[in-house]
Amino acid sequence: MPRIFPERSATMTNECRLSRRAGWAVGQPIRYLMQEALSRPELISLAAGFVDQETLPLEATQAAVDHVLADRPRAQAALQYTSTMGDAVLRELLLARLEAADGAALSGQDLAIDRVVLTAGSNELLYLLGEILLDESDIVLCPAPSYFVYLGGLANLGARSYGVAVDQHGLIPEALEEALQQLDSSGELPRVKAIYVCTYHDNPSSLTLAAERRLQIVETARRYSRHGTIFVIEDAVYRELRYFGTDIPSLLAADPDGSTVIHTSSFSKTFSPGLRVGWGILPTALVEPFCNQKSNIDFGSPHFTQQVMAAILQLGLYDQHLDMLRDSYRHKLEAMVGSMEEHFRPLSHVSWLPAEGGLYVWMQVAGVDTGSTGPLFRKALDEGVMYVPGIHCYPQEGEPARHDMIRLSFGVQPAERIRAGVASLAQAIEEVSPLPTP
Ligand SMILES: Cc1ncc(COP(=O)(O)O)c(C=O)c1O
Repeated sequence: MPRIFPERSATMTNECRLSRRAGWAVGQPIRYLMQEALSRPELISLAAGFVDQETLPLEATQAAVDHVLADRPRAQAALQYTSTMGDAVLRELLLARLEAADGAALSGQDLAIDRVVLTAGSNELLYLLGEILLDESDIVLCPAPSYFVYLGGLANLGARSYGVAVDQHGLIPEALEEALQQLDSSGELPRVKAIYVCTYHDNPSSLTLAAERRLQIVETARRYSRHGTIFVIEDAVYRELRYFGTDIPSLLAADPDGSTVIHTSSFSKTFSPGLRVGWGILPTALVEPFCNQKSNIDFGSPHFTQQVMAAILQLGLYDQHLDMLRDSYRHKLEAMVGSMEEHFRPLSHVSWLPAEGGLYVWMQVAGVDTGSTGPLFRKALDEGVMYVPGIHCYPQEGEPARHDMIRLSFGVQPAERIRAGVASLAQAIEEVSPLPTP
């Protein structure tokens, strides 16, 4: 059912004539979740997907800043504008890192830094991609569930998010095929501009798209690109946060000529969100439209933090930090799952997906409305714990939204507070009777 866009929202008075887009931006869950957490500091928030304050890389950043500033020409360049695409040294380093991670799998690609763009975090990149690809009512197919800030960005652009089912191996290729077929039959295929997938340790589900599905998804996108390219946006922001199992090649590596997959990532989760350095590897055809759009906004993201990140990589500080971070998050994930086993096992209507990395555990409380106006959310707040209601993570159309899901994050809290938060959540769940499931 296509979304109906309001002409005006309640905030649009005659005096303050905001755009329709401003109206579409209201009601994003992130704001009330943050407000609730800030106004009640005693709450154990298992909601925020922030990184751990205690492991932020103070010394490494100091060393890199000193390194950049000690070299006068480099310091002067760093304090000057850069190109719209961003610092060339960092773009080279990022490409080399991706080539090392994907190895032979990337060999068919014509990869060069003129396809690499730097942005202020990957959200900016995702949003700008929306601006250059999507007109109002255009469609992006997304896993159900998906990263809710991305879904909010699509709504803000007036675009439609269309959910595709997932299983324990991530987005289901047959479900993607079926969704595309349906859209084709209803005459809406020309509106489909992209497929978005967070390919490693997804937010919120922690699912990694199985290696054997990657080629199939790119192939499906290409087969349905009859009215123009359907791009596949690979959000790889959690790739380097793997605590168990082994890495697999990117979705970009499954794109034979680099014309379909847009690869995006960021240093926010693996180093520091405050530095705001994200990047994308774009199909050549998108580079110019992307830069045109970006240059109307800022003609280049902050050069200084790009240079600092380049120095961090060059000095070997990034990999050192990653090793420490993975150990820390592995421990926290074990604390979360361990206490979930302990407290939830007796509750037969509670289940969750295994997580091998990232920052989240995705759980179900079957038959219980987990939304912010439902009985569990309030009870959980009363017990002193907050989570992200899963309902926010569902696209507007397609695969139906589930009302009984929860995203828990183990990133921010220390292990003992994670255990206490899970115990409190179990207490709240025990106080709410599930409705019989049909
Ligand atoms: C799946 C996903 N993609 C992208 C981002 C954006 O991160 P940033 O804009 O800080 O790079 C996040 C942040 O939470 C995320 O979870």
